[in-house]
Amino acid sequence: MADTPFTIPPDRIPRHVAMIMDGNGRWALSRGLPRLAGHKAGTENLRRVIRSSVEFGVKYLTIYAFSTENWGRPPEEVKGLMFILEDVIDRELAELSKEGVQLRHIGRLERLSPNLQEKVLDAIDATKNNDRLVLNVAFNYGGRDEIINAIQRIMKDGVPPEGVTDELVSRYLYTAGTPDPDLIIRTSGELRVSNFLIWQGAYSEWFVTPKYWPDFDREEYLRALETFASRDRRYGKVSSSEYEASNA
Ligand code: FPP
Repeated sequence: MADTPFTIPPDRIPRHVAMIMDGNGRWALSRGLPRLAGHKAGTENLRRVIRSSVEFGVKYLTIYAFSTENWGRPPEEVKGLMFILEDVIDRELAELSKEGVQLRHIGRLERLSPNLQEKVLDAIDATKNNDRLVLNVAFNYGGRDEIINAIQRIMKDGVPPEGVTDELVSRYLYTAGTPDPDLIIRTSGELRVSNFLIWQGAYSEWFVTPKYWPDFDREEYLRALETFASRDRRYGKVSSSEYEASNA
Protein backbone atom coordinates (compact mmCIF):
# COMPACT_ATOMS: atom_id res chain seq x y z
CA MET A 1 0.00 0.00 0.00
CA ALA A 2 1.32 3.44 -0.91
CA ASP A 3 2.10 5.83 1.94
CA THR A 4 -0.55 8.49 2.59
CA PRO A 5 0.77 11.78 1.26
CA PHE A 6 0.95 14.40 3.95
CA THR A 7 -0.40 17.88 3.57
CA ILE A 8 0.71 19.60 6.76
CA PRO A 9 2.30 22.97 5.90
CA PRO A 10 6.00 23.08 6.87
CA ASP A 11 5.40 25.87 9.39
CA ARG A 12 2.97 23.60 11.32
CA ILE A 13 5.45 20.73 11.57
CA PRO A 14 6.99 20.56 15.07
CA ARG A 15 10.69 21.36 15.00
CA HIS A 16 11.38 19.03 17.92
CA VAL A 17 9.44 15.82 18.61
CA ALA A 18 10.20 13.73 21.70
CA MET A 19 8.95 10.19 22.13
CA ILE A 20 8.35 7.87 25.08
CA MET A 21 8.60 4.51 23.33
CA ASP A 22 6.39 2.57 25.70
CA GLY A 23 4.69 -0.81 25.42
CA ASN A 24 7.43 -3.09 24.05
CA GLY A 25 6.91 -5.52 26.92
CA ARG A 26 3.12 -5.69 26.50
CA TRP A 27 3.51 -6.01 22.73
CA ALA A 28 5.69 -9.09 23.31
CA LEU A 29 3.47 -10.51 26.05
CA SER A 30 0.40 -10.26 23.83
CA ARG A 31 2.22 -12.50 21.34
CA GLY A 32 3.57 -14.93 23.91
CA LEU A 33 7.13 -13.69 23.30
CA PRO A 34 9.87 -12.70 25.76
CA ARG A 35 10.15 -8.99 26.62
CA LEU A 36 13.41 -8.65 24.71
CA ALA A 37 11.59 -9.64 21.51
CA GLY A 38 9.43 -6.58 22.16
CA HIS A 39 12.51 -4.37 22.45
CA LYS A 40 13.82 -5.87 19.23
CA ALA A 41 10.57 -5.10 17.43
CA GLY A 42 10.71 -1.64 19.01
CA THR A 43 14.18 -1.13 17.56
CA GLU A 44 12.96 -2.08 14.07
CA ASN A 45 10.19 0.45 14.49
CA LEU A 46 12.61 3.11 15.63
CA ARG A 47 14.37 2.83 12.28
CA ARG A 48 11.05 3.53 10.50
CA VAL A 49 10.21 6.42 12.81
CA ILE A 50 13.60 8.05 12.19
CA ARG A 51 13.03 7.76 8.45
CA SER A 52 9.53 9.26 8.75
CA SER A 53 10.90 12.11 10.86
CA VAL A 54 13.34 12.98 8.07
CA GLU A 55 10.51 12.73 5.52
CA PHE A 56 8.20 15.00 7.55
CA GLY A 57 10.86 17.65 8.07
CA VAL A 58 11.19 17.24 11.85
CA LYS A 59 14.60 18.65 12.79
CA TYR A 60 15.09 17.17 16.29
CA LEU A 61 13.89 13.79 17.51
CA THR A 62 14.47 12.77 21.13
CA ILE A 63 13.82 9.17 22.12
CA TYR A 64 13.59 7.75 25.64
CA ALA A 65 15.55 4.53 25.31
CA PHE A 66 16.70 3.84 28.89
CA SER A 67 15.74 5.73 32.02
CA THR A 68 17.71 6.06 35.26
CA GLU A 69 14.93 3.88 36.77
CA ASN A 70 15.36 1.11 34.17
CA TRP A 71 18.40 -0.24 36.08
CA GLY A 72 15.81 -1.84 38.35
CA ARG A 73 14.64 -4.22 35.59
CA PRO A 74 15.80 -7.85 35.52
CA PRO A 75 19.56 -8.04 34.73
CA GLU A 76 19.01 -9.87 31.44
CA GLU A 77 16.67 -7.13 30.21
CA VAL A 78 19.16 -4.42 31.21
CA LYS A 79 21.91 -6.35 29.43
CA GLY A 80 19.65 -6.74 26.39
CA LEU A 81 18.96 -3.00 26.19
CA MET A 82 22.70 -2.25 26.45
CA PHE A 83 23.30 -4.72 23.67
CA ILE A 84 20.61 -3.08 21.51
CA LEU A 85 22.31 0.31 21.84
CA GLU A 86 25.65 -1.22 20.87
CA ASP A 87 24.12 -3.17 18.01
CA VAL A 88 22.25 -0.15 16.63
CA ILE A 89 25.52 1.81 16.56
CA ASP A 90 27.42 -1.08 14.94
CA ARG A 91 24.84 -1.86 12.32
CA GLU A 92 22.88 1.30 11.64
CA LEU A 93 25.27 4.18 12.09
CA ALA A 94 26.61 4.26 8.53
CA GLU A 95 23.10 4.24 7.04
CA LEU A 96 21.79 6.82 9.51
CA SER A 97 24.74 9.04 8.77
CA LYS A 98 24.09 8.72 5.02
CA GLU A 99 20.56 9.94 5.68
CA GLY A 100 21.94 13.04 7.40
CA VAL A 101 21.23 12.00 10.98
CA GLN A 102 23.36 13.55 13.71
CA LEU A 103 23.49 11.40 16.82
CA ARG A 104 23.59 12.94 20.29
CA HIS A 105 23.27 11.45 23.74
CA ILE A 106 21.45 12.85 26.76
CA GLY A 107 21.87 11.34 30.20
CA ARG A 108 24.82 9.93 32.10
CA LEU A 109 27.30 7.81 30.20
CA GLU A 110 29.33 6.91 33.31
CA ARG A 111 27.45 3.78 34.28
CA LEU A 112 27.78 2.19 30.84
CA SER A 113 30.66 -0.15 30.08
CA PRO A 114 33.83 1.66 28.92
CA ASN A 115 33.51 -0.02 25.54
CA LEU A 116 29.93 1.20 25.06
CA GLN A 117 30.82 4.70 26.26
CA GLU A 118 33.55 4.85 23.66
CA LYS A 119 31.20 3.62 20.93
CA VAL A 120 28.63 6.28 21.78
CA LEU A 121 31.26 9.04 21.84
CA ASP A 122 32.73 7.87 18.52
CA ALA A 123 29.26 7.77 16.93
CA ILE A 124 28.55 11.31 18.16
CA ASP A 125 31.83 12.50 16.73
CA ALA A 126 31.37 10.69 13.40
CA THR A 127 27.96 12.28 12.77
CA LYS A 128 28.53 15.75 14.22
CA ASN A 129 28.37 17.53 10.86
CA ASN A 130 25.09 15.94 9.71
CA ASP A 131 22.19 18.33 9.69
CA ARG A 132 18.98 16.78 8.40
CA LEU A 133 17.88 15.41 11.75
CA VAL A 134 19.38 15.57 15.23
CA LEU A 135 18.62 12.31 17.03
CA ASN A 136 18.94 12.70 20.80
CA VAL A 137 19.14 9.31 22.43
CA ALA A 138 18.10 9.53 26.08
CA PHE A 139 20.00 6.63 27.60
CA ASN A 140 20.52 6.38 31.36
CA TYR A 141 18.49 9.57 31.39
CA GLY A 142 16.26 11.01 34.11
CA GLY A 143 14.78 14.49 34.22
CA ARG A 144 15.40 15.01 37.93
CA ASP A 145 18.93 13.69 37.59
CA GLU A 146 19.48 16.17 34.75
CA ILE A 147 18.28 19.10 36.88
CA ILE A 148 20.40 18.01 39.87
CA ASN A 149 23.41 17.74 37.57
CA ALA A 150 22.69 21.24 36.22
CA ILE A 151 22.34 22.77 39.71
CA GLN A 152 25.60 21.15 40.84
CA ARG A 153 27.48 22.55 37.85
CA ILE A 154 25.88 25.99 38.17
CA MET A 155 27.04 26.10 41.81
CA LYS A 156 30.50 24.81 40.98
CA ASP A 157 30.80 27.58 38.38
CA GLY A 158 30.03 30.11 41.11
CA VAL A 159 26.99 31.60 39.36
CA PRO A 160 25.38 34.18 41.71
CA PRO A 161 21.66 33.62 42.58
CA GLU A 162 20.49 36.52 40.41
CA GLY A 163 22.35 34.95 37.48
CA VAL A 164 20.15 31.85 37.59
CA THR A 165 17.66 32.44 34.82
CA ASP A 166 15.48 30.23 32.65
CA GLU A 167 17.97 30.63 29.83
CA LEU A 168 20.99 29.83 32.04
CA VAL A 169 19.43 26.64 33.44
CA SER A 170 18.63 25.49 29.90
CA ARG A 171 22.29 25.91 28.99
CA TYR A 172 23.33 23.56 31.83
CA LEU A 173 20.95 20.76 30.84
CA TYR A 174 22.00 17.74 28.75
CA THR A 175 19.90 19.24 25.96
CA ALA A 176 21.85 22.53 25.84
CA GLY A 177 21.55 24.03 22.38
CA THR A 178 18.46 21.98 21.46
CA PRO A 179 15.10 23.80 21.26
CA ASP A 180 12.47 22.61 23.75
CA PRO A 181 10.24 19.83 22.41
CA ASP A 182 7.15 21.14 20.64
CA LEU A 183 5.44 17.78 20.78
CA ILE A 184 5.86 14.80 23.10
CA ILE A 185 4.37 11.51 21.94
CA ARG A 186 3.78 8.62 24.31
CA THR A 187 2.73 5.20 23.10
CA SER A 188 0.76 2.51 24.93
CA GLY A 189 -1.77 4.86 26.47
CA GLU A 190 -0.09 5.70 29.78
CA LEU A 191 -0.82 9.20 31.06
CA ARG A 192 2.47 9.84 32.82
CA VAL A 193 5.53 12.05 32.29
CA SER A 194 7.88 9.37 33.70
CA ASN A 195 10.73 11.77 34.49
CA PHE A 196 11.17 12.67 30.81
CA LEU A 197 12.27 16.19 29.82
CA ILE A 198 10.52 17.66 32.84
CA TRP A 199 12.14 21.09 32.42
CA GLN A 200 12.12 21.22 28.64
CA GLY A 201 8.55 19.93 28.32
CA ALA A 202 6.99 22.79 30.32
CA TYR A 203 4.97 23.98 27.29
CA SER A 204 5.11 20.93 25.04
CA GLU A 205 1.95 19.63 23.45
CA TRP A 206 1.22 15.96 24.21
CA PHE A 207 -0.13 13.20 22.02
CA VAL A 208 -0.84 9.85 23.67
CA THR A 209 -1.74 6.88 21.52
CA PRO A 210 -3.00 3.50 22.76
CA LYS A 211 -0.75 1.74 20.23
CA TYR A 212 2.25 -0.13 21.61
CA TRP A 213 5.58 1.27 20.42
CA PRO A 214 6.33 -1.50 17.87
CA ASP A 215 2.94 -0.71 16.26
CA PHE A 216 3.41 3.06 16.18
CA ASP A 217 3.55 3.40 12.42
CA ARG A 218 3.79 6.23 9.90
CA GLU A 219 -0.01 6.64 9.86
CA GLU A 220 -0.18 7.13 13.60
CA TYR A 221 2.83 9.47 13.55
CA LEU A 222 0.99 11.54 10.91
CA ARG A 223 -2.10 11.59 13.12
CA ALA A 224 0.04 12.98 15.94
CA LEU A 225 1.45 15.66 13.64
CA GLU A 226 -2.01 16.56 12.31
CA THR A 227 -3.31 16.90 15.86
CA PHE A 228 -0.34 19.09 16.73
CA ALA A 229 -0.88 21.24 13.62
CA SER A 230 -4.46 21.94 14.72
CA ARG A 231 -3.55 22.97 18.27
CA ASP A 232 -3.45 26.57 19.42
CA ARG A 233 -0.34 26.96 21.57
CA ARG A 234 -0.86 29.72 24.10
CA TYR A 235 2.08 29.35 26.51
CA GLY A 236 -0.15 30.43 29.40
CA LYS A 237 -1.47 33.45 27.51
CA VAL A 238 -4.62 33.82 25.40
CA SER A 239 -4.75 32.90 21.72
CA SER A 240 -3.92 35.67 19.26
CA SER A 241 -7.48 35.70 17.85
CA GLU A 242 -9.00 35.99 21.36
CA TYR A 243 -6.52 38.76 22.16
CA GLU A 244 -7.43 40.68 19.02
CA ALA A 245 -11.17 40.22 19.71
CA SER A 246 -10.89 41.45 23.29
CA ASN A 247 -8.91 44.50 22.16
CA ALA A 248 -11.18 45.41 19.25
C1 FPP B 1 9.40 0.82 27.33
O1 FPP B 1 8.59 -0.30 27.09
C2 FPP B 1 10.58 0.74 26.49
C3 FPP B 1 11.86 0.74 26.95
C4 FPP B 1 12.22 0.82 28.36
C5 FPP B 1 12.98 0.60 26.02
C6 FPP B 1 12.82 1.26 24.70
C7 FPP B 1 13.81 0.73 23.77
C8 FPP B 1 13.63 0.54 22.44
C9 FPP B 1 12.41 0.90 21.69
C10 FPP B 1 14.71 -0.02 21.65
C11 FPP B 1 15.58 1.03 21.03
C12 FPP B 1 16.67 1.29 21.95
C13 FPP B 1 17.84 1.90 21.67
C14 FPP B 1 18.86 1.86 22.70
C15 FPP B 1 18.19 2.58 20.41
P1 FPP B 1 8.33 -1.29 28.30
O2 FPP B 1 9.36 -2.35 28.24
O3 FPP B 1 8.27 -0.53 29.57
O4 FPP B 1 6.92 -1.86 27.93
P2 FPP B 1 5.79 -2.32 28.94
O5 FPP B 1 5.36 -1.08 29.68
O6 FPP B 1 4.73 -2.84 28.03
O7 FPP B 1 6.40 -3.37 29.82
